[in-house]
Amino acid sequence: MSAEELRSAVLLGPMPKHIAIIMDGNGRWAHARKLGRYQGHRAGVDALRRIMRAGARLEIPILTVYAFSTENWKRPQEEVRALMNLLVEYVDTDSEELLSQDISVNVIGHPEELPLAARQAVHQVCRRTRGRSRRLNVALNYGGRREIIDACRELAAAVHKGELAPEAISEEMFARHLYTAGQPDPDLLIRPSGEMRISNFLLWQLAYTELYVTPVLWPDFDAKHLYEAILAYQSRDRRYGGLSKGQAEDSLC
Ligand code: IPE
Ligand code: IPE
Ligand code: MG
Repeated sequence: MSAEELRSAVLLGPMPKHIAIIMDGNGRWAHARKLGRYQGHRAGVDALRRIMRAGARLEIPILTVYAFSTENWKRPQEEVRALMNLLVEYVDTDSEELLSQDISVNVIGHPEELPLAARQAVHQVCRRTRGRSRRLNVALNYGGRREIIDACRELAAAVHKGELAPEAISEEMFARHLYTAGQPDPDLLIRPSGEMRISNFLLWQLAYTELYVTPVLWPDFDAKHLYEAILAYQSRDRRYGGLSKGQAEDSLC
């Protein structure tokens, strides 16, 4: 099927309100082409641009992309530096387009620990795009475990001050202390490059998210792949631990 046919098919089904993507495989893409890893990351930015456009056409309300994890600091310094430079460049070249797509950029993670230029770029794009109708969460210096610990610390501090009773802590309250406070959990998680793991991404929020893993490397990921992922999502039976309609009619004994 062509991209347009796939897109028309997607529009017939329930649209995910929130899609999360682990943008993985840049290094393997570059290696396969005998290019440096930097070229892979560059091609990864092009893929992000394509997916932002496709997401805008489908009016997906929230996209969350994993750009740099708390574990990615383990990479060689030059690679980290190159990634930070690409971030600055992306903000520079793409802010206008994000504005025209009616997108607010929001960073989840600890951007205050990024190098100065990256911090400034992030601050600027978030400020410029505030108050738009759709959202792009960029997970930067993000770790799911760290996010949960941050939430625990905030709640523990409130308990310590006598402002909160431990038994008053509910799942809803806990979620309000996460970086994604106020946002629905992702309906769909896409992981390109075939790894069957979530690599410390949105540990709390993915509890009932539909997972879609594809061998396609992120720099090769295009609108067609996004539509295929959404079509797969639309064919899933989301039971949330309950029974689907058909099952509920089955007898117990
Ligand atoms: C994802 O691509 C980009 C970041 C983690 C920042 P990788 O660099 O992890 O690509 P592979 O996994 O080595 O192919
Ligand atoms: C996950 O990819 C992080 C990002 C895409 C930013 P990694 O390449 O860091 O994950 P692992 O090391 O394969 O688990
Ligand atoms: Mg990787």
